[in-house]
Amino acid sequence: MVLELPPMCGIFGIVLKKRSAKLGDMMVRAAERLSYRGYDSVGMAVANGDGAIDLRKDVGNIAQTNEQFGYDRMSGDRGILQLRWATFGVPNTVNAQPLFSPDEVMVGAHNGNITNDPFIREKLEREGYKFLTENDGERLVCLTHKHLKNGKSPEEAYTAVIGEAEGDFASVFMRRDSREVYAVKMGSSLYLGLADDFICVSSDLPSILEFTRKYVRLENGDLVVFNDRDYRIFRLPEQEYIERPVTVSDIDIENANKEPFAHFFMKEIHEQVEGTRSLLSLYGSTGVWKDFVEALDKANRVFISGAGTSYHALLLGTYYFNKIARLPIFPTWASQMLPLYSNTVGEGDLLVLVSQSGETKDLMNVYDWAKEKRVAKTFSVVNNIGSTLALHCDGMIPIYSYLEISVPATKTYTNQVMCFLYTAMKLAERRGIAYKGITWDDLHRVPELVRETIAAAEEPVKELAPVLLKHPSMHILGQDMTHPVAMEGALKMKEVVYNHPEGMYSSEFKHGPLAVVDKDYPVLFVSLPENEDLVLSHMNEVICREGIVVHVGQPSRGYDKICHYKLPIPAVGNPYLNSILSVIPLQMIAYEMAIALGNNPDQPRNLSKTLTVD
Ligand code: BG6
Repeated sequence: MVLELPPMCGIFGIVLKKRSAKLGDMMVRAAERLSYRGYDSVGMAVANGDGAIDLRKDVGNIAQTNEQFGYDRMSGDRGILQLRWATFGVPNTVNAQPLFSPDEVMVGAHNGNITNDPFIREKLEREGYKFLTENDGERLVCLTHKHLKNGKSPEEAYTAVIGEAEGDFASVFMRRDSREVYAVKMGSSLYLGLADDFICVSSDLPSILEFTRKYVRLENGDLVVFNDRDYRIFRLPEQEYIERPVTVSDIDIENANKEPFAHFFMKEIHEQVEGTRSLLSLYGSTGVWKDFVEALDKANRVFISGAGTSYHALLLGTYYFNKIARLPIFPTWASQMLPLYSNTVGEGDLLVLVSQSGETKDLMNVYDWAKEKRVAKTFSVVNNIGSTLALHCDGMIPIYSYLEISVPATKTYTNQVMCFLYTAMKLAERRGIAYKGITWDDLHRVPELVRETIAAAEEPVKELAPVLLKHPSMHILGQDMTHPVAMEGALKMKEVVYNHPEGMYSSEFKHGPLAVVDKDYPVLFVSLPENEDLVLSHMNEVICREGIVVHVGQPSRGYDKICHYKLPIPAVGNPYLNSILSVIPLQMIAYEMAIALGNNPDQPRNLSKTLTVD
């Protein structure tokens, strides 16, 4: 199953049969359906039929900008809109989309990343274009405008555009001098909506199902040119027109975005394939990691803090920085940092604040303290680059997981871990430190290995879930780099199964907790390739007390011989890749157990996605 790039922004375009005062209201309703895709800024452009384009945009979510501009009162016969999840360029009015072409004859918006934006920018500047923004979307608008204003048809113009612009994107484009609207799909999702008195296009299905059940799912390479009653789909790669099937949907709107999964939790487990791929691609093409590596290299001492799942990710990152870059780094829970280290943090120290939301209060307290004491620099590792920590810390590195909707974190954890491994390797190279055990080729295998790991776990988790559901508690043990993995697996299960698995260090188990083992007590062992003998001996301590032993890791004869159950990962024979992949079967077993109990893993009881309270 090829999944689209995870949501990062949202675009929508519509052409009505005739000018109408309802246009603005329809567009606001579509924007509200798309609001989860971007709340850094929102913009709407409307052509009101007398040759003008009315463009209004600003930072803020759809409710705030509609309040400011009265979007729902805009009237006209066609319009486009964009909700921005900032990836490049801080969220501000200038960088908001849609964006005008220089002559204001055309206006466009996009969702995605033009990875060769610097090259395109330089080329167009040489041809006389002047850019007002840091937004790669502006280059796309100008590139399209350049070809159209030379008299090319939309088909010819977009053939030229995709010949120059690289990356994953979807874009929508409107002109003052024509009722036709153009939309192109190159990697990010895009759908066409059909009705008797309008045609529309959108990044996702719910914003179309709001108005019509009839839609066409567009594919990468499709250019669609439409007005209020006709459309044509042109295949840019093959240079030919095609028909695509029209679907009359029976999906209810609320579940349309999870398609084809029953919960965002499982969809986001699968999005770890594209999420890790987008991190590797964007780190490689933008160098956005450089400030972080420099800050780590120059720091006197490095403290790294986070809460919940982010803490487990940074704990694994601590192994990477020590093992690969020989950087001693002090990991703490967010709320533990000040009580433990506030008396020792000094000049030149660096506080790394790890938070997918960038808003967790426990970390804000650390940030506020550092700002007030001015004793150390702060650096945020975030998913939401429009967040408080992202905008206020001395430095920021994004993890590019795009929006994570399910409350329990899955794909953001994996991208946090990938961020730490990537930057640990870069730091070692900056320091001239030779490291073993992981190469860049290994790292670039991760997205496909994630896909394989998900596939390999599908059946085993179905077999194991009913067994573990018989027990209110269990232990999940890890050693070396799989200790944080065991902790994260236990947290996932607690969050959605509401049971009591304890994640802990395997060698510590015999110093007390072993007493808990009796007949059929489940103990899961998360192994690395090189610690098989040690893990086997730990397993035997449980087996000889009639406990149930589950192996999480790459299969071997030794484990096959004594384990009762296995959650296998691909036999990659690499400890670093094992430490990334072995969380996946634990995420999936937690999900399997949760839905067996009828729990909703996306909104577990008592929990919230971001805790902005102490
Ligand atoms: C908790 C969430 O409230 O905050 C967890 O339920 C999350 O899923 C933790 O890991 C930390 O959040 P963040 O945004 O700081 O990574």
